[in-house]
Amino acid sequence: KETPTDTYYTVVAQTGETQLLPGKKTKTWGYNGSLLGQTVVFAKGKTMHIDLKNELPELTTFHWHGLNVPGPYTDGGCHAPVYPGKTRHIDFKVDQPAATLWLHAHPCPSTAEQVWHGLAGLALVTDETEAKLPFPHNYGVDDIPLVLQDRRFHEDNQWDYEADYDPDGVQGPTAMINGTINPYFDVTTQRLRLRILDGANRREWRLHFSDDLPFTQIASDGGVMPEPVEFTHLMLTCAERAEIIVDFGKVTPGHTVTLYSDDVPLVRFRVHDFETDDTQLPDHLVDIPNPDVTPDTPVRKVVMSGMDEAVMMDGKKFEMQRIDARQKVGNVELWDVTNTNDMDAGMVHPFHMHGTQFLVLSRNGHEPYANEHGLKDTVGVNPGETVRIKVWFEHTGVYMYHCHIIEHEDGGMMAQIEAY
Ligand code: C2O
Ligand code: CU
Repeated sequence: KETPTDTYYTVVAQTGETQLLPGKKTKTWGYNGSLLGQTVVFAKGKTMHIDLKNELPELTTFHWHGLNVPGPYTDGGCHAPVYPGKTRHIDFKVDQPAATLWLHAHPCPSTAEQVWHGLAGLALVTDETEAKLPFPHNYGVDDIPLVLQDRRFHEDNQWDYEADYDPDGVQGPTAMINGTINPYFDVTTQRLRLRILDGANRREWRLHFSDDLPFTQIASDGGVMPEPVEFTHLMLTCAERAEIIVDFGKVTPGHTVTLYSDDVPLVRFRVHDFETDDTQLPDHLVDIPNPDVTPDTPVRKVVMSGMDEAVMMDGKKFEMQRIDARQKVGNVELWDVTNTNDMDAGMVHPFHMHGTQFLVLSRNGHEPYANEHGLKDTVGVNPGETVRIKVWFEHTGVYMYHCHIIEHEDGGMMAQIEAY
């Protein structure tokens, strides 16, 4: 239900069955459907009233990844359980720039297993600034989501989380895109906007198109970036989002362009006739907040160490009863996030913060990547690297920060901060 100022919505976490492969259907979980979820739209300035209903056989939580809200119950991390058959109601005002966010289960320590079952969906924030930018805006036609995941299918096309369990993150050999296997998309416009989410438990995606077709990234986790960046290759780590615009102007209608990760085909884009579209993006897209730093700005050290069962945050495992850090709302801090893994053999830890969006300032003292100049809530920290980020909170609450390899998070590579 919609009024000019309010939106009412119900999200139901449910079990189901999905036809993913020929033969038996796969037992899956989803939001308002059998697998993944309907995209929820949050219009900036509106007040959302959401019923979160749990129809699963076990406890779950509903975490809005990337949403800036007073925490932790609205945020929906481990602090906000919804028991089977129960409903939790949340209300919040949408107060952040247009962005591609997501909803996923986050009960500790079974986040990874529930996401593997399918509890992940998209949530889009819309606002007037973004609506006026010359981007494709027709959702489902020239503005489409790509949720990138991977699975292993066992007998009778079933998933078996326990059999595939790996404390460094569960993965499978089959790419699952928007909850489908081997998908194609019919391109009917010259420009296509893709809202890409790495929704995998542990996998990184090294994306490129056939013939190295160039594309332009316009947004990252927290919304539109100050400047568009053109690439032919893009890497996403767990939970990161990238919005890109692909221009099919040089592709002959009738041809197919394939999106790959390394050499694995993910999506085939079948290009049809389209009307010529010579829209150019401006050099500058949006202004983003960038609070001042002074020589007195405190520097906080955060250490992600270990692999498999030994993963830790600052030498400790997560404890829900323990507050690990405090920061005053409105105050700015620099956080130096270090991954102590061995440079040659270690894993990338995607560092994620709840409750706020941050800015990436440097990687081992060097400039961050060209597409890291916007607001972010997740940043891949490479083995042996220290990433400096600028952190401030707009709401009070207790918020978790953790590695987004979900099995690392469930394994305790997580801590929590109280914004006061
Ligand atoms: Cu996307 Cu604490 O998670
Ligand atoms: Cu990790």
